[in-house]
Amino acid sequence: MRFISFKTLLALLVCFLITILNPVAAAPVLSPDEARFAAALPNHVTGLHKRGLTGVNDFNCKLTAAHPRPLILVHATLLTAESWWSFTPKLRERGYCVFALTYGRYNSIPIFGGLAPIEQSAQELGTFVNDVMARMNVTQVDYVGGILGRYWMKYLDGAGKVNRMVGIAPITHGTTLSGIVTFGKAVGLFNPVQSISDAIAPSFYQMVNTSPFIAKLNQGGDSIPGVIHSNIATKYDEVVTPYSTAWQTSSGVTNALLQDLCGISFNEHLTMVNSKVVLQWVLNQLDPSTAKTANCFSRFFM
Ligand SMILES: *[C@@H]1O[C@H](CO)[C@@H](O)[C@H](O)[C@H]1NC(C)=O
Repeated sequence: MRFISFKTLLALLVCFLITILNPVAAAPVLSPDEARFAAALPNHVTGLHKRGLTGVNDFNCKLTAAHPRPLILVHATLLTAESWWSFTPKLRERGYCVFALTYGRYNSIPIFGGLAPIEQSAQELGTFVNDVMARMNVTQVDYVGGILGRYWMKYLDGAGKVNRMVGIAPITHGTTLSGIVTFGKAVGLFNPVQSISDAIAPSFYQMVNTSPFIAKLNQGGDSIPGVIHSNIATKYDEVVTPYSTAWQTSSGVTNALLQDLCGISFNEHLTMVNSKVVLQWVLNQLDPSTAKTANCFSRFFM
C-alpha cells in the first residue's frame, strides 16, 4: 500500500523548493488590494468549511413544472462546493433541486479546488452533470458558475445540455497577469516563473487574457447558441481584472454590474457568493417570471 504518490511527493518538493529558493513566495510583498484579498481568503475558505452544505445533491428532490431542470452550482477557482452555503438554502426554499461538486483538486494540495488544468476540470464537471441528468431523468440543466460549463459545451460532450447559464464574475475574456498574481500570492503559491506555477496550479496561467486556453474558449464567439446567458461582475474584483472582462460581448447576453444594483456592495471576487443582492439577481435570471428588484434592500426581503 502506498501512502504517498509520486505526484504528491513532487508537489511537496516543488512547494519546498519555492519556499527556500524564492523569497517572493516565502514573504510576498502585497499591494493593498492583494492584502485585502489575502486577508479575506482564509476566512472565506475556513468559514465555508465550517458551515457545510445541506439540501444539496439530493436525488430525491422533485423537479416541478416551475423548476423542471436540476440547478448545477460551479464554484470559483480556489473555492469548493461548500462556498455555496449561503445561496443553497434560499434556492431550495424556492423549489430548486440543487447540485454542486468540488472540481479541480491538484497534486493532493488540500482545501483549494480549481487548481487543475481547466480542460480536466471541465471534464470533471461533465461527468458530474451527466450523472445528475441520468439520475434525475432529464436532458438539460441550469448552470450557475464560471466558464467551465462553456468549455464543456463547446469542446467536450456538453452541447445542448444547458438551458440557462448564469455567470458570477466569470473569467470570460481572461484576466490581466495582476489578477493571477493576486490569486497566487493570496494562497502563498505565487511564482512569476510559469513553469513553477504550472506545477502547482496549472489553471492560474490558463486564466490570463493572452493564454491559448482563453483564445480557444472564445474562438468563434463568446456565447453558446441556444443557451440563455447572463453575467454579473463586481467593481471590486481583484482577480478578474478589469472586471468588465467577465461580460460576454455576444448579442442577447445580459451583463450586470453589482454596484449598479447596490452602490454600497463591496464584495470582491470570492465573496460574490455571500451577497444577497447577487443571489436575488441570480434568482431573477433563473426565473424571470418571478423576478423582484435586486438592490441594496434585497438582503432584508428575501
Ligand atoms: C423519464 O422521463 C421520461 C420522459 O419524460 C419518462 O417517459 C419516463 O417515464 C421517465 N423515467 C423515469 C424512471 O421516471
